[in-house]
This record gives sequence, C-alpha cells and structure tokens, in this order.
Amino acid sequence: MKVERRNLAEFTTLAVGGPAEVWTVETPRDLVQATAAPYRVLGNGSNLLVSDRGVPERVLRLGGVFAQGSLGRPRSEDAPHLSPWIGAGVLLPTLVQEAARLGLSGLEPLLGIPASVGGAVRMNAGTRFGEIADVLEAVELFHEGAFRVLDPSELGLGYRTSRLPGGAIVTRVRLRLTPAPAATIEARMAEVDAARKGQPKRKSAGCAFKNPPGDSAGRIIDRAGFKGHRVGAAMVSPEHGNFIVNTGGARAEDVWALVKRLQEELGLELEWEVWGEFP
Ligand code: FAD
Ligand code: EPU
Repeated sequence: MKVERRNLAEFTTLAVGGPAEVWTVETPRDLVQATAAPYRVLGNGSNLLVSDRGVPERVLRLGGVFAQGSLGRPRSEDAPHLSPWIGAGVLLPTLVQEAARLGLSGLEPLLGIPASVGGAVRMNAGTRFGEIADVLEAVELFHEGAFRVLDPSELGLGYRTSRLPGGAIVTRVRLRLTPAPAATIEARMAEVDAARKGQPKRKSAGCAFKNPPGDSAGRIIDRAGFKGHRVGAAMVSPEHGNFIVNTGGARAEDVWALVKRLQEELGLELEWEVWGEFP
C-alpha cells in the first residue's frame, strides 16, 4: 500500500482539487487498514469537483487486486455470458473495448464514459442508450469491515444515482453480456459515438447537471445564453452547455462560482459529487 500527500487535481479529469492523503490500497488487508479512519473513495475522478483546499479525509484509490480483471472468453454463442469477478478499479473504456473484441454486446452504451467500474456503479453511469445497471449481474461491496455480495436490485440504481450503504466501497462486479456479431456491436458503438460528437474534448467532469424530466440541461443553459461564459479559467463549453471546461489552470473556486450561477439562474440539479469546502 502506498500513502502519499498529493494534489487531487492530478486524479480528476477536470484537473482541479487541492491536497489530500492518498491511500492506494492493493489487498483486502490494506482496505481494512485504510478504512480505520474517515475516508472517501476515488474512482477515475471523472464526476468530481474537489475544493482547492483539498479534503481532510483519507482518499482511497483502488489498485492491486482491485484494479485487475477482464470479461473472460464467451463459451457459447447462444447463451448469455457471465463474466468472472472484475475489480472496481478497472477502467470502463478498457472493458468496452474488450467486449467489442470478444464479440460481447451490452457495454456499447457506455462507450466514451471515462469511469472506473466502481464509480460507474456508484453513479449508475449511462447514456440514453443504456446504463451500467442493465448489465450488472452481482456487486461485491466492502462495508463496515466485511465483504458482501449484493444483487444489483439492492443498490437503488436510478438515473445517475444509487443508494449504496453509507461508506460502502464497490470492490468487484460480475457482468452479464450477450454474444453478438462484431458488425452489430460496431454499429451500436458508432451510434453512441455519433451521439457524443457535440461534447467538448477539453478537460471536464462530464455533464455538470442532471437533465430535468423531458428536457436537457445543456439545451436550457444554451438557450439562457451561458455558452462561453467564464469565471477565471473555468468556462461553460461553447460546444455543449452542460459541460464546464478547464481552459488551463482553473481553480475549483472558479468552477464552483459558475455552478452556483447556473443553479441560481436556472434551478438545475448538480450531477457532480463535490468534495471539500468552498469559500
Ligand atoms: P469518481 O468521479 O472518482 O467518483 C464519483 C463518485 O463515485 C464519488 O462519490 C466516489 O466516492 C464514488 N466512487 C468511486 N469509486 C467508488 C467505489 N469503488 N466504490 C464506491 N464509491 C465509489 N457519466 C455518464 O453517466 N454518462 C456519460 O455519458 C458521461 N460522459 C462523460 C464524459 C466525460 C468527458 C467525462 C469527464 C465524464 C463523463 N461522465 C459521464 C461522468 C463520469 O464519467 C461518471 O459519473 C462516472 O460514473 C464516474 O466514475 P469515476 O470512477 O470517475 O468516479
Ligand atoms: N443541446 C442544445 N445545446 C447544447 C447542448 C445540447 O441545444 O448546448 C440540445 C441538443 O441539440 C439535443 C439535446 O439538447 O437536442 C440533448 O443533447 P445531447 O444529445 O448532447 O444529450 P444530453 O442530454 O445533453 C446526455 C447525457 C450525457 C450523455 C449523452 C449521450 C445527462 C445529463 N447527459 O446528454 O451524459 O453522454 O446524453 O447519451 O444525462 C454525463 O452524464 O456526464 C453525460 C455526459
């Protein structure tokens, strides 16, 4: 296990966030030790706004055995494929590509989401084509010092949300995929990719706000004229209204000021997780 003081900007896709004690756990024993004091779990940092002042809690990253695993080879072309256990620290894009190579369908809707498996479960990551809940067979949690396996129906998975027990850490998952012809999988991936074409390439944490029922937060922000609006180096993307981008050296404070402004003017609900204190 590695314990280091690091800036969380290094571990978030938005590239903002101050210092914390980062514990990279590699074994179940590490996990027991690391969770003996207040902690937070970091996935791939792609849905997080972390304060410039950092956080006082230990920040756990899943390495070692928790970042291993793959989908396994399908045995039959006719039966659903149950994967072996996959570590929650594995990256979703790796699995999406692996599934395409193996001729396994089900992960195509998640193409382009830069999540860890654990973070994807916690947020029930998805697109309008589907979400991770659709392919979860079983989820292993570490909670209050013990591992237990839950049925996905016990996790309260909804639109970009879950109801994991407080402090629970997703450690492994099993997925249920369906063998399919390569051409079918490629066509689905192309469709999902096309739907993402309007999203910015710059550093961001994905969509900042949830879509209100029947509408799109991006469209609402766009209509209200906020595209290109800046606070310091944080900017509402000129390409897509629901993305706040770091144009270079943005501070969390700047991003937060933009979030507050949009929330106050438009009454949108934040999708991001916010860590630490803001002025
Ligand atoms: P983090 O951001 O690290 O953490 C998010 C939350 O999950 C935190 O509360 C954290 O404590 C918790 N968490 C992380 N790992 C674990 C674990 N092992 N056990 C328990 N809790 C854990 N999201 C979508 O749904 N659809 C999209 O299309 C999409 N597109 C995106 C595009 C871009 C360019 C970016 C940057 C982000 C996008 N996102 C999208 C947002 C983000 O990828 C998802 O919310 C994702 O699920 C976050 O996963 P993560 O591993 O990065 O979690
Ligand atoms: N639109 C505008 N202006 C904008 C942005 C969007 O008019 O600035 C319009 C589009 O033209 C379209 C509609 O709004 O008619 C919806 O936009 P889009 O297709 O881009 O989808 P979205 O609802 O903004 C959702 C998810 C994304 C996901 C895409 C693709 C949410 C909050 N967002 O975006 O997820 O990648 O669909 O399925 O649910 C995320 O959750 O972080 C995320 C990026």
